[in-house]
This record gives sequence, structure tokens and C-alpha cells, in this order.
Amino acid sequence: MSNLCVIGTGYVGLVTGTCFADLGNQVICLDIDEERISKVKQGIMPIYEPGLEQVVAQNVKAGRLFFTTSYEEALKDAEFAFIAVGTPSGVDGEADLQYVRAAAEAIADIVDHPIVVINKSTVPVGTGDWVAEIITKRRNERPLDFSVVSNPEFLREGSAINDFMVPDRVILGSENRPAAEKVAELYQSLRCPIQITDLRTAEMIKYASNAFLATRISFINEIANICEELGADVTEVARGMGLDKRIGRAFLDAGLGWGGSCFPKDVKALAHMAVLHGTQPQLLQAVMEINRNQRRRMVMHLRKTLGGLNDKVIGVLGLSFKPNTDDIRDAPALEVIHLLRNEGAVVKAYDPQAMEIVAKYYPTIPLCHDPYQVAEGADALILATEWNEFKQLDFKRIHQAMRQPVVFDGRNAWNADHLRAMGFRYFGIGRGNL
Ligand SMILES: NC(=O)c1ccc[n+]([C@@H]2O[C@H](COP(=O)([O-])OP(=O)(O)OC[C@H]3O[C@@H](n4cnc5c(N)ncnc54)[C@H](O)[C@@H]3O)[C@@H](O)[C@H]2O)c1
Repeated sequence: MSNLCVIGTGYVGLVTGTCFADLGNQVICLDIDEERISKVKQGIMPIYEPGLEQVVAQNVKAGRLFFTTSYEEALKDAEFAFIAVGTPSGVDGEADLQYVRAAAEAIADIVDHPIVVINKSTVPVGTGDWVAEIITKRRNERPLDFSVVSNPEFLREGSAINDFMVPDRVILGSENRPAAEKVAELYQSLRCPIQITDLRTAEMIKYASNAFLATRISFINEIANICEELGADVTEVARGMGLDKRIGRAFLDAGLGWGGSCFPKDVKALAHMAVLHGTQPQLLQAVMEINRNQRRRMVMHLRKTLGGLNDKVIGVLGLSFKPNTDDIRDAPALEVIHLLRNEGAVVKAYDPQAMEIVAKYYPTIPLCHDPYQVAEGADALILATEWNEFKQLDFKRIHQAMRQPVVFDGRNAWNADHLRAMGFRYFGIGRGNL
């Protein structure tokens, strides 16, 4: 059993802290957001993540998991301090490190015992060294016995607990190998491959992994657009490609493109790092441009199909950036809505989990209480996020409710033949039918 402090109680921090507590450690999760901590103390999860509420409750009850807004309390006995704060995009696409800096400074100001500082946030290559420098400089004549370890996080929202408990790998990077080995012990019981590297390599593994996954999606979207023009079906193309063991099937689903809290900012940050250091990230630039185009292309097809968008009523199903999360950061649906409204369309939407947060940040988007209300009087219906509850809709009811039975399946999740047989004009992505 070890004493852990997790700085930042968001998607990554809350899941990490909870799972480490579940493995038997004593964990304090810290956040500067008082409302967030007060809610989680009452058992109200600040995020939607399947299964999380129950594991939090069990570990709080077992006396292993605590929440606080006090750095003093959180760091008092911590042998390990995980930094899991946000690293959003700055104005030029660079990662904004102000929250990481604040966490490092707090550690420097408060801790007076040996500690391992672990960067779990996704941070530019070189940030581990920078964090070490911040702490060392700030302590000045009162040196602190500490080491910095990079431990990038690979969990996926929607399956975060399972991803933590059954990871494909754990990556640890440090200039101090014994410190990395100490962190490795925390993961030992998960029996997964643990790779120990230097700091910068570990930081790069995270960016390279996300950029590669985004590249696969942009690749299949480019193929989808070519399929559309040439009359081929990208869903079958992806299946045929994926059966090749060298290629695999994952991340080859054509659609509205990638979004979320990680891929957009991480690909941008990697490209920014590359340019800053004199290399030309041509592939990364193309990957981002293809992704932007996917949204524009959908709007273009809608405009063409409906003969203009002004005053057309468009229903949007799904607002979160992917199913099983309420995270709307860089959600494709929101970008499509923005583009449609720019052309005068009247948009209404529904999402199983993200409506509270959409109402807070996008109060002008009309929200409906179910998919059928979205379809009411609509000239077209877009499937933007493939939540399970959208897969088996009562399409007869949808057909009756719509002004024009036009459906745009932005995730290739519906049965095209079935919908066409019911009288819908069905459009998918890359299915040779537009
Ligand atoms: N969300 C994901 O799926 C995911 C997956 C892998 C890696 N990551 C990376 O993990 C990091 C965190 O992402 P997230 O999605 O959990 O972010 P988040 O925005 O959900 O949570 C960050 C939390 O940190 C808190 N915070 C900010 N400054 C603080 C400070 N000085 N002290 C204490 N708390 C502070 C915020 O209030 C917020 O609650 C990012 O770098 C992200 O790129 C995220």
C-alpha cells in the first residue's frame, strides 16, 4: 500500500485516483474546483463515465479514497504525486502548461519529504525536465528529494475503468530509473507490459500514439470520400483491409472524423512542436485538414440534397464527441451544428448524457427530450454520435414525424437497405451513394 495524491480530479485524475485506491492504495484526489470536489464528496460524479460512481463509492466507504481542495492536505503524506490537470490548446496549437506549472509550484512550496512527481497529463516533450527545473529553482536553498516520472495516460472515455485495470501497456519515463521502477510497482498487480524509457521518449510515445490513431481515422475518411465518388462502399473496404493482420480493423471507421479532449489538441501540439524545432509535419497537417473537411463535406451534401439550408429544420442525434461520455470538447456534432446554423438552418438536438453540459456552454442550441422530438418536422436527421440508443430507433415513427424523410448517417451505424426500403433517402459516409 502506498500514499498517493492525484492533482486534478477530471476524467483522468478521478479515474486514476479511484482505480489506484481500488488496488489497495491510500489516495487523495485534489482539485481547485470547489464545486467539483463538493459534488464528488456527496457521491455525485462530475463526469459521466460508466461504472465510475460505484467504484468511487466502494473505495470511499473502505477509507482508501478522499477528496480535497487543499494542497497541504493532499500532499502531507504523499509518496507519489500524480499530475493529471488539463493541458488544453494554446493560441498557436501549443499545449497550455499553466495548470501543470501551478501543480509543480505547489509541490515545491509544500512538500518536505521525498516524493516522486508523476506527469500523467499529456505534455510536450521536454516538460518533465521543465517540471524538475521549476521545483528545483523554487526550492532554491532548501533542496527537495524528488524525481520526475512521465506516465502518459491511454484510457478512453467511456471505458476508462477497464482501460486502467486492463491496460495494453504502462509507459514510464524517467532520468532516474529507480524512481520509474517505484512507480512500476504501483502497476505490478495489473500484470501488463511495463516499458521504462527516458523522460522524453515516454512523452513522445503518448503523442505518437494519438497522432497515429487520428491518422488512421483521417486515412479511412479520405478513402471514404474517394469511395463516394467511385461507387465503392467504405465499410466493406475497411472490413477487407482490417482482416489483414498487418493492418487490423481498429480505428478504420469512416465518419464525421475525430474530436474529443485529446486527438485534436494532441495532434496540433505535436505539429506545433515539430515546426518549433525545424521539421515539417506534413502528414500531421494533412490529417488535421482531412478531419476538418469531413464536417464541411457533410454540410455540403446536406445543402445539395435539400436545395439550400436556409430555414431548413435539421435534427441532430448525439452531441458528445463519442458514445458513452458526456465530453463535448471538440465534438464533431457541435461543429456541424455551427456550420449549419451559419447557413440559416434551424437545428435541434438530443444526446443521452451531454445535454446538461451543452445547455451550459451552448445555451442557444434547442434541445429535445428524445430522438422522436428531434425528428418532428425535420427536413433531415443527422446521426452525429453513435450511442447505442440510436441504433434501434422506431424508424416508422421517425418517418412519420419528419417533414422530409432524409437521413444522414454520419457514423455508418444504420442499416442503409432497411431504411431505404422504408422510404427514407439514406446517405452514409463513403458508401457510394451520394
Ligand atoms: N480525457 C481523456 O480521455 C484523456 C486520456 C488520456 C490523457 N488525457 C490527458 O490527461 C490530462 C487531463 O485530462 P482530463 O480530460 O482529465 O482533463 P479535465 O479537464 O477533465 O480535468 C482536469 C482537472 O484539473 C483541475 N485543475 C486545473 N488546474 C489545477 C491545479 N493547479 N490543481 C489542481 N487541479 C487543477 C481542473 O479543475 C479539472 O478538474 C490532459 O493532459 C489530457 O490530455 C486525457
